[in-house]
Amino acid sequence: MNFTTIWERLLPIGRNERSGGYRRYSWTEADMACRAWFARTASSLGLRTDCDRNGNLWAWWGRPGSEQAVVTGSHLDSVPDGGAFDGPLGVVSAFAAVAELRALDFQPARPIAVVAFAEEEGARFGVACLGSRLMTGAIDPATARELRDGDGVSLADAMTAAGRNAALAGPDDELVGQIGALVELHIEQGRALDGLSAPVGIGAGIWPHGRWRLDFTGRADHAGTTRLADRRDAMLAFAATALSARDAAAECASLATFGKVVAEPGAANAICSAVHAWLDARAADEATLDRLVGRIGEAARQAAGRHGVLMEINRESFSPAVSFDPVLRDRMAGVLSAEGSVPPLLPTGAGHDAGVLAARVPAGMLFVRNPTGVSHSPAEHAELADCETGVAALTAVLADLAGR
Ligand code: GLV
Ligand code: MN
Ligand code: MN
Repeated sequence: MNFTTIWERLLPIGRNERSGGYRRYSWTEADMACRAWFARTASSLGLRTDCDRNGNLWAWWGRPGSEQAVVTGSHLDSVPDGGAFDGPLGVVSAFAAVAELRALDFQPARPIAVVAFAEEEGARFGVACLGSRLMTGAIDPATARELRDGDGVSLADAMTAAGRNAALAGPDDELVGQIGALVELHIEQGRALDGLSAPVGIGAGIWPHGRWRLDFTGRADHAGTTRLADRRDAMLAFAATALSARDAAAECASLATFGKVVAEPGAANAICSAVHAWLDARAADEATLDRLVGRIGEAARQAAGRHGVLMEINRESFSPAVSFDPVLRDRMAGVLSAEGSVPPLLPTGAGHDAGVLAARVPAGMLFVRNPTGVSHSPAEHAELADCETGVAALTAVLADLAGR
C-alpha cells in the first residue's frame, strides 16, 4: 500500500457534496467510518488497533510497553467544512511510512505506533485537542464529560452511544509513559514553505492561543415598530466588538477571530435578544495574548454599555506557548539534511496534539508545503509530490528513531 491507495480510501468519508468540505465530528457516523477505515488500514499493514480510554486510536507495530515507543499520527476529525488534509495527512502519511518501512524489511528496535487523536478541532464539544488533553491530564475528566455539543448532547453520552465507557476517560499515565517520542506530520497552514521553495519543514513551536465565549444579552422586540432609541440590540454590541477585535489584533501584531456566532431568537423581523460568540485569539507570547483579550473584553463591555446590553466573557480553553523538544528537532533536521534537503524551522499559530503531548514527552512536527496556505476550508490543498516527500521524510525519521 502506498500513500495514494491509503489516502483515496479515506477521501469520500464525511465529505459534504454541496460544499466539498468535510464534516467529521467526533463520535458521529462520519467519525465512526473514519475509525473503521483506521482499523482496516492498520490491519492490512499487520498492526493491531487499540482504542484508549479517551477515544484515541492506536495501531501498534510491536508490543506496547516493551520499550519506549516511537509514535506518529495526527487526527481524523474536522472543522465544519474543513479541508481533506488538516489531520488526515498526518495519519495517512504515518501508515504510508509504516508500509514503506515494512517494504524495506525494517526491523524496529522499539515499538512504532500510528495514532489518531480524538476531537482535535473541538468542532463538536468546543475544546480543541480533547483526546490528547484527557490522556495527558490537561483537562479535568469530569468537566470534559459534561461538555455539550450544539444539540445539548454531552461528551459522555456521545461516547456511550459509540460504545465507549466514558467513565474511564481521564489521565492515562501508563500510555503516556510508553511514548519515547511523538512526531506529528501536518499540512502547513500558511505559505512559509512555499515562499522558501521547500516541500517539508520542521515545527519550532506553537503560539499560545485559546477560545473565549462572549454572551451578549439584550431584549427581543419588533423590527418594524421599535424606535432606534428604545432598542437593546445584542447584535449591535457584538458587531462593534467584532470590529474592535480586528483593530486590537492589528495593534498587538496578533490574531483574533469570531468564526462562530449564534443569534437569538434568530428571526429576520425581531431585534436580537442574545448573541453568543466565540473568540479565537492567538499571539506570539502569553503577555501579548493577555493584552489582546483584555482589550477585546473591554471593547465588548463598552459596546454592551452603549447599547443597553449585558455582556459576559468566559474562557473555554487555553493552550500555552509550546517550544518543541530541541533534541528531537535537531535529530530530525540531521536526518532530513542527510537525505539531501535542509528543512526550514517554522513556528505556527495553529494548535496540534503534538503541542499538548510536548508537555509530557519529546514531541516534534513535520510540515508539508501548502501552496496557497489556505486551511480550515474545502480549498485546502497539498500537491501529491509534496505529500510523497513528506512520507519519505517521515519514513527516514521513524527509521532513525526506531532503529538499532
Ligand atoms: C486547530 O486546527 C487550531 O489551531 O484551531
Ligand atoms: Mn485544524
Ligand atoms: Mn490539525
